Amino acid sequence: MSVPPRERRTTFSLQSSSYVGMGDLLACRRKQSILVVEDNELNAVLLKEMLVSRGYPTVAVHSAAEAEAEIRREAPDLILLDVIMPGKTGYELCRELKQDPITRLIPIVMITGLSAQEDRVKGIEAGADDFLTKPISSEELFARVGSLLKLKEFTDELETADSVLCTLGLSVEARDPYTEGHCERLARYATDLGRFLLLDEESIVALQRGGYLHDLGKIRVPDKILSKGSDLTPEEWEIMKQHPVTGENICRPLKSLRLVLPIIRHHHEHSDGSGYPDGLRAGEIPLLPRILQVVDIYDALRTERPYKPALGHEQAAVTMRAEAQSGLWDEELVAEFFAMLDKRRQVA
Ligand SMILES: [Fe+2]
Repeated sequence: MSVPPRERRTTFSLQSSSYVGMGDLLACRRKQSILVVEDNELNAVLLKEMLVSRGYPTVAVHSAAEAEAEIRREAPDLILLDVIMPGKTGYELCRELKQDPITRLIPIVMITGLSAQEDRVKGIEAGADDFLTKPISSEELFARVGSLLKLKEFTDELETADSVLCTLGLSVEARDPYTEGHCERLARYATDLGRFLLLDEESIVALQRGGYLHDLGKIRVPDKILSKGSDLTPEEWEIMKQHPVTGENICRPLKSLRLVLPIIRHHHEHSDGSGYPDGLRAGEIPLLPRILQVVDIYDALRTERPYKPALGHEQAAVTMRAEAQSGLWDEELVAEFFAMLDKRRQVA
């Protein structure tokens, strides 16, 4: 069975990460800001004054709606979030922020009441990073805030490094005018298919990055080979076939890309073992590269290239199903992909 059952699942286990040695990278940064979301005005003012007294730029708002507007205006580095508020509760806001790729890395400290046990369980389920119990002691507040802001510094640095590599991926794409927009379409199709398959959020993020980074290794393929597209000599083909391993080697130092590495390395494997670089067979190819592969083939078929015209949707579907049956692609994933597209076309 190549496609896992239709239920929420985690594709890879988390590994502990050590960022020792990154201190030099973190010098000269901006002041980190904090958002307090607390409907009780007096509590909000007290919290804000305590934080400002320690030099943290702080904004206080009194509802989830105000918090959402403030986050859209300027994303904070940390959110202190009251549990009970009029309108949307702190749990609901926390869950929404943690599900949004743009805000999911902002640490959230939930402020709970004295009977904290049940509140904490709900907070953990909503994705809260830490808790403070009312009445809040200043020592506990500063300890929690200090450690979470330190962690946020590291994640910001990693996000920046990811962005640089993704931009590099786009610059590789730009060397071939016939593939313009390919990376963005791939990232969109792959994340859509991942969500359709109910993958966990970490896998969705990996698929999005995979869309931009899968061909990064082509940075070492000469222009004269890239621009030919097809009819490569055996020597040129050997050079082209190195791009998955080259890309993997470039991205390997970034621990935040660990789920993307298999996508980069295995996006040219075939179910019958005829692909490269490792000649893996159906059950051996991890799920995420199989997903990227399916959407990559579809986009390639639907796009005009110097050596072939663009196919229509129906022609692409017939071609991909035939190629999957012949042993190139994952048949079940191809079926899931077209089921997703068909569902959309019916809605539209
Ligand atoms: Fe590739």
